[in-house]
Amino acid sequence: MVPGRSRIVGDSPVRKDAFEKVTGKARFVDDLSVEGAWVGRTVRSSEAHARLRAIRFDPAFDWSTVVVVTAADIPGENVIAAIADDQPCLVDGVIRHAAEPVAVIAAPDDRTAGEALRHVSLDTESLTPVLDHESSDQALKSYEILKGDVERGLAEADLIVEGTYRVGHQEQMYIEPQGIIAIPRQDGMLVQGSLQCPFYVHKALTRVLGLAGDEVVVAQTVTGGAFGGKEEYPSMIAAHAALAARKAGRPVRIVYDRREDVRATTKRHPATVRHRTGVMRDGRIVAMDVEVVMDGGAYVTLTPVVLSRGTIHAAGAYRCANTRIRSRAVMTNTPPNGAFRGFGAPQTLFAVERQMDRVARALGLSPLEVRRKNLIGVGDTTATGQLLTDSVGAREVLEAVATAGNVELRHAELENKPRVDGAHLARGLGLSVYLHGAGFTGSGEAHLRGKAAVALGRDGRFEVQVGSTEMGQGARTVLAQIAAEELGVPLDDVDVVTPDTSIVPDSGPTVASRTTMIVGSVVREAAAALGAELGAAYPSLELRAAAREHAIERGPLRVLREYRPPPDVRWDDAAYRGDAYPVYGYGANVVEVEVDLDTLQVEVTRCLAAADVGKAIHPQLVEGQVQGGTLQALAWGYLEELVLKDGRVQNDRMTNYLIPTTLDTPPIETILVERPYVRGPFGAKGVGELPMDGAAAALASAISQALGVEVDTLPATPERLLDLVRGSR
Ligand code: MOS
Repeated sequence: MVPGRSRIVGDSPVRKDAFEKVTGKARFVDDLSVEGAWVGRTVRSSEAHARLRAIRFDPAFDWSTVVVVTAADIPGENVIAAIADDQPCLVDGVIRHAAEPVAVIAAPDDRTAGEALRHVSLDTESLTPVLDHESSDQALKSYEILKGDVERGLAEADLIVEGTYRVGHQEQMYIEPQGIIAIPRQDGMLVQGSLQCPFYVHKALTRVLGLAGDEVVVAQTVTGGAFGGKEEYPSMIAAHAALAARKAGRPVRIVYDRREDVRATTKRHPATVRHRTGVMRDGRIVAMDVEVVMDGGAYVTLTPVVLSRGTIHAAGAYRCANTRIRSRAVMTNTPPNGAFRGFGAPQTLFAVERQMDRVARALGLSPLEVRRKNLIGVGDTTATGQLLTDSVGAREVLEAVATAGNVELRHAELENKPRVDGAHLARGLGLSVYLHGAGFTGSGEAHLRGKAAVALGRDGRFEVQVGSTEMGQGARTVLAQIAAEELGVPLDDVDVVTPDTSIVPDSGPTVASRTTMIVGSVVREAAAALGAELGAAYPSLELRAAAREHAIERGPLRVLREYRPPPDVRWDDAAYRGDAYPVYGYGANVVEVEVDLDTLQVEVTRCLAAADVGKAIHPQLVEGQVQGGTLQALAWGYLEELVLKDGRVQNDRMTNYLIPTTLDTPPIETILVERPYVRGPFGAKGVGELPMDGAAAALASAISQALGVEVDTLPATPERLLDLVRGSR
């Protein structure tokens, strides 16, 4: 970088999508006016498990006014697959969960579509559903991580501490429900919609429609939040819309309302985690034995990789010579669980962080002391044997929240406060520290080889071309900053094109906290190469002037690069050992609560969140990510509860599935720690998922201290707390 030039990276310019969003110019899929588009609705099962004998169409309705699509209309394969080919696009034979798609109806308008839907019924033979993951024996995937000798470690320990932890579903509850419009074209199908991963949808469509790659185009529309929930399910909706559009010979739009979205789309995996921890009197952990069971729901979807991430993170941010982590995911007849911010890690990190508090109490140490004694650092190895060599901010984040939250003193104060009879409020403080692997697990990035291009246009301006999507997190702004900084041009000279599979290269999916770190590093490389080419063409000109000259005299220019994983990252997929991630982000939380002793309602009175993100490319956006993720984690801890009865979601609206409003939201004091990662762009690591990982545990520990019980099951609703308080008397 030229000294003295104004820095773009590390500054917080107005985000690229701000103007269109605050002025209402942004066009979401439901806003697009598409000539002649029909409305699509989905016929769904009401039973959790049944044999589908027939679909009945009531003759009282005039079926000539609509188009109906069933499994029989699928020209390609009846499959929507992320990993395994088990999930049909439309049920053909056996219904495996409630709200499973059976048929699609397209009609000229909403009213007719709704009317048609009411005249369809399913003729079924009920089968016995499996509804509880703890009693399901239908294993879907399992892993085992072994380090050292866990039995010997447990035998040598002064003390063995045991705990069992349970967490529930979580609904992504993005502002904009899912929606897709499919537009038939002479040479194939164009699909536009609210989605995270255009190339995933593209692949799904080629299979279902039986079309070649170049016959399908997938373009993203402005997307109002995703949180993992638009990683895989848009493939299903896109296939439904495209099948209907194909049969109707006109565009078909399917936009879910909130209730359908909550009932049918993927959620966070419920999990049960058991810990046995061997500790010495001095506080050292010498053995960790962990067992994880996750509820995959009715189909495989992304569960194997969610379980993988959960398994790898199950030992937390601690050093331990003897570790065994055994995990399995099982199938139940409930809607498939899938990607949700954190991707398995929040579940297992909740367990290990609560377990650390149990260990602390067993040893008579404070939660801070036990973490200080065992925290992972440079020179230590993780559970998979990954040696940490640099960019380890674990201690910094822990000490940052400990200092800012005055944790030592506050915890002792609250611990020793005498119980007052007739008091109406109880207070408590909780602490957590955690890590989150950035990028795909294991050799994922090596297989993927994410691509990015930076192009000079005819107007002398630059365009970043990536498959990465803006979904509210700020990717468009951050990737533009990286390119502008590297090129040495003003941010206004750089645009990021909206992903369209016929224009952009496949950068890999926008998931796994990989966009800034992995795709950003490729963008930076492409920008550097483009800058070098322009500099060579016009050596006497400043880059911006060289770009203008080049555009006028020689025309546009485009440089494409792909991700090359660092050569020293080694992963053994068979043994599940090695460098699970290129690098980790680190986070810590302090949460203070007041619990109303009459109603057992919890109020978060203070919340601190420290995050080691390597380098904050756009500090304001990073703070936004940290605050949003922390709030989502708190809410998962005490507010959000998906109620299922016979496998059917009972609370499918925002009035009964509660997420925090502004009034429930404490100020979240954010502390950014920057331990640069040499291979990240300007030192940046991923940040999207990290803040989801620890606040629920800190909250549960705070409630535990306040009430003198152990909150080991989430969410800590008043009803659950009442059971705990009664049980402890
Ligand atoms: Mo994300 S939960 O990796 O879509």
